[in-house]
Amino acid sequence: MAKSENFQNQNPTLEEGLFGSLPKEKHCSGFDVLFYQGFWCPEIIVENVVSFQQHFQAHENDTILASFPKCGTTWLKALIFAVANRSKHPLIESPLLSANPHVLVPFLEFHIYRKPPLVNLQDVPSPRILSTHLPYSALPASIKTNSKCKLVYICRNPLDQFISYWHFASGMQSKSHYSVSLDEWSKKYCISGITPFGPFWDHMLGYWKASQEKPGQVMFLKYEDLKEDDVFYVKKLSEFLGVPFSTEEERDGMPEQISRLCSFENLKDLEVNKSGKIDQSPVDNKQYFRKAKVGDWSNYLSSSVAEALKKLMHDKLEGSGLTFKTS
Ligand code: A3P
Repeated sequence: MAKSENFQNQNPTLEEGLFGSLPKEKHCSGFDVLFYQGFWCPEIIVENVVSFQQHFQAHENDTILASFPKCGTTWLKALIFAVANRSKHPLIESPLLSANPHVLVPFLEFHIYRKPPLVNLQDVPSPRILSTHLPYSALPASIKTNSKCKLVYICRNPLDQFISYWHFASGMQSKSHYSVSLDEWSKKYCISGITPFGPFWDHMLGYWKASQEKPGQVMFLKYEDLKEDDVFYVKKLSEFLGVPFSTEEERDGMPEQISRLCSFENLKDLEVNKSGKIDQSPVDNKQYFRKAKVGDWSNYLSSSVAEALKKLMHDKLEGSGLTFKTS
């Protein structure tokens, strides 16, 4: 049985000081991950996660963007920010032109619930747009049950996610002088799902089920669908967030303008995203913008590894109704 299935019920708290007893693995990108509450949590943020879980109080008008890493988080942050703030900031003066989307929509577990915080929660303008990589099962109760806040989730074909993460981590590896071959990495990922916030199947299925049970609270998006018709999803997002486009806005092409503002080509060429860096982050802003292609996995994976990943995806998602095209 995969290790991740063996420890589902562990739920240590800071007070119990049980982090030391959690299953621990070295992730291929060089940092340690702990199996905490059913997912592989980067060790460096496990205390932040506990703090987020214990203290965060959702507001009714919050929007929480949830995602599995490398599935289009940066893009969706930009889209949600632009849709929600369009009456505050004309697009031509959008803060997205001078700030990276991760600055405008901070991560709860990386930026807010850390010591000292990079962003103070009280400084986040209302209505708040916040983000997280935590699986649905690990979200604070106040998000899931006590509030009418909205959750927008994005995921992606796991083969492309895998390749995207490998490139992303390779960018960090050069700094830590740690390197693991794609084949070696894929075996670990394939066999045990040991990847930050994974396994991917639990992450995706958790939000998939929540979106089916609570369609008014949880919107489930796939990167590939957005790539196919982002204007359609910009309109859907505006309706879901309770700020639908007026007839006038539609006539003036506002959804198309938001799509262009947030496009890969536009964001990646902005000075702030070419040369900037978020405070204390090991990642340069440019690492969030690589290729943005659907199906890029086929340029990297051997047929045996691709087949193993497709089989894993099929086996884990079978019967759920959640599918991804792989050809
Ligand atoms: P690739 O590595 O396949 O190019 P995340 O934002 O969750 O870290 O995901 C990063 C992936 O989204 C990268 O994929 C990146 O290139 C892509 N991406 C970033 N901005 C994008 C945008 N505006 N439109 C489409 N894809 C984008």
